Amino acid sequence: MQTVKSLQMLRTALAQLRANGGSVALVPTMGALHEGHLTLVRRARADADHVVASIFVNPRQFGANEDLDAYPRQLAKDAAMLEAEGCALLWAPDVAAMYPAGFATNVSVAGVSDGLCGAARPGHFDGVATVVCKLFNQVAPDMAFFGEKDFQQLAVIRTMARDLDLTFPHADAIIGVPTVREPDGLAMSSRNRYLAPDDRAAAAALPRAMQSAIAAIESGADIATVLTDLEAKIIASGFTSVDYAVLADSRSLAPLMSLNAQPARLLVAARIGGTRLIDNMAVNDDP
Ligand code: PAF
Repeated sequence: MQTVKSLQMLRTALAQLRANGGSVALVPTMGALHEGHLTLVRRARADADHVVASIFVNPRQFGANEDLDAYPRQLAKDAAMLEAEGCALLWAPDVAAMYPAGFATNVSVAGVSDGLCGAARPGHFDGVATVVCKLFNQVAPDMAFFGEKDFQQLAVIRTMARDLDLTFPHADAIIGVPTVREPDGLAMSSRNRYLAPDDRAAAAALPRAMQSAIAAIESGADIATVLTDLEAKIIASGFTSVDYAVLADSRSLAPLMSLNAQPARLLVAARIGGTRLIDNMAVNDDP
């Protein structure tokens, strides 16, 4: 696997990769890879001839008081993991390569970016949409893979691709891969490593509480009551606050107060020991 750090090297490497034909998949990441990322690479390898991964800790998607400086960076270790999974090329630009002096463009996806994490993290999804739009243009993949763990991010990226008529990749070739979980059910995240042992143990209560809430919703319980009980349960298990616990339409992410036939998601963001965790699960048999 080749690691490239400049756009010029990326273009040369991509031309070599494409010389013999075959499809190209992109797996965008911010590094600090775990089994969730490797699952994306495996899925990409199954569906495409060549897999390109990117590692870029994108400053534009971090708020002023967020963990940009503390965000784990381990390029050599990540590169070895990607190589072992059969990745063909690693695109690892630095900030100056991604945002050269004079960079002035912002990609903003209204509506789907606004609520949930967008409300708690103003500007976050503009940063995500801007960098993902650039990554798509830089690599021009036939398909791209993202974790459903960041469900709102996936919706923002799909909306951007649809609205801007992107071709490489087409919106339909943006593939969401189900969340990979630890044995106790906690969704894998690069931020789980911030958790102290007690908080890490307590955090497993979050997916358990969400599963009980979904069982209640699917058996017809009042949704507002279920969500209030869910927040109380999360706090009782050791979380310090709940940013949101919402049942939403899977596509628009508009909050739902009744469950009809449409696919829906239960989405939660909550803080424990200074770390903000997010999770989401399908309701109504949405896969
Ligand atoms: O999910 C992530 O790791 C990031 O938000 C992404 C999609 C790589 C954009 O920086």
